[in-house]
Amino acid sequence: MTVHFIGAGPGAPDLLTLRGRDRIAMSPVCLYAGSLIPEALLEHCPPGARIVNTAPMDLDQIIAEIVTAHAAGQDVARLHSGDLSIWSAMGEQLRRLRALDIPVTITPGVPAFAAAAAALEVELTLPELAQSVVLTRTPGRASSMPAAETLVAFAATQATLAIHLSVHNLPQVVADLLPAYGGDCPVAVVWRASWPDEQIVRATLSTVEAAVTGRPERTALILVGRVLAPGDFATSSLYAQGYDRRFRPQSAESRFAGDTP
Ligand SMILES: C[S@@+](CC[C@H](N)C(=O)[O-])C[C@H]1O[C@@H](n2cnc3c(N)ncnc32)[C@H](O)[C@@H]1O
Repeated sequence: MTVHFIGAGPGAPDLLTLRGRDRIAMSPVCLYAGSLIPEALLEHCPPGARIVNTAPMDLDQIIAEIVTAHAAGQDVARLHSGDLSIWSAMGEQLRRLRALDIPVTITPGVPAFAAAAAALEVELTLPELAQSVVLTRTPGRASSMPAAETLVAFAATQATLAIHLSVHNLPQVVADLLPAYGGDCPVAVVWRASWPDEQIVRATLSTVEAAVTGRPERTALILVGRVLAPGDFATSSLYAQGYDRRFRPQSAESRFAGDTP
């Protein structure tokens, strides 16, 4: 018996990996994390599967479901939205399952920030503009932030920011970022990226608060950075003519000549 943690992707049912689909299909029990998991994914469950929405359950109740399946020798598919490596609460479940000696597998998923970037048709790292993406959030009712992880501190880097779980907190986000990024810095807010009711607002730090008035207060990503409206940016060396590299040696004297696999 194994618990298969599966990143269910950002919302569109066809943004599930093939491995995730197959692991759902082989598991007679499916525990899924509430409304961010599209119902269509549950259609991959085998006939007669026990399908449980864990949104109203606490950790002890979730582990109890898994222990029952373990006793019956039944694999469990455990679905969380997006990818499992960020804000999935997988860590605390893994700790309990390891203590119980229950084996697990982990299948990554498409994270929401990648789906939001796709919806905006942008690359979040562009030569000379930004080479780092900070995946972060602001403090919430259930989660405080480590003292050093402030938006003000991240803003000092000028990196591209992907701010989760914070659209309800937009005035504070703007106040924290304005000094370092400036009022003309592009901002995009993407609600429910890849769902049929996806919404996008493009603005600047000066205009974004007014632009989102009346929009939902949940399930949105705030993206901030010059890469969102880059104008004329530098070209990367990777595909530049004359750039000597292993897959494209430029002469017989190149240190890469004869090296191409
Ligand atoms: C608990 S976190 C889950 C993150 C997820 N594990 C991931 O890999 O993206 C939920 C937050 O992710 C963001 N989010 C999740 N799905 C989204 C989507 N389809 N569109 C925009 N933001 C989304 C929102 O900021 C939301 O408040």
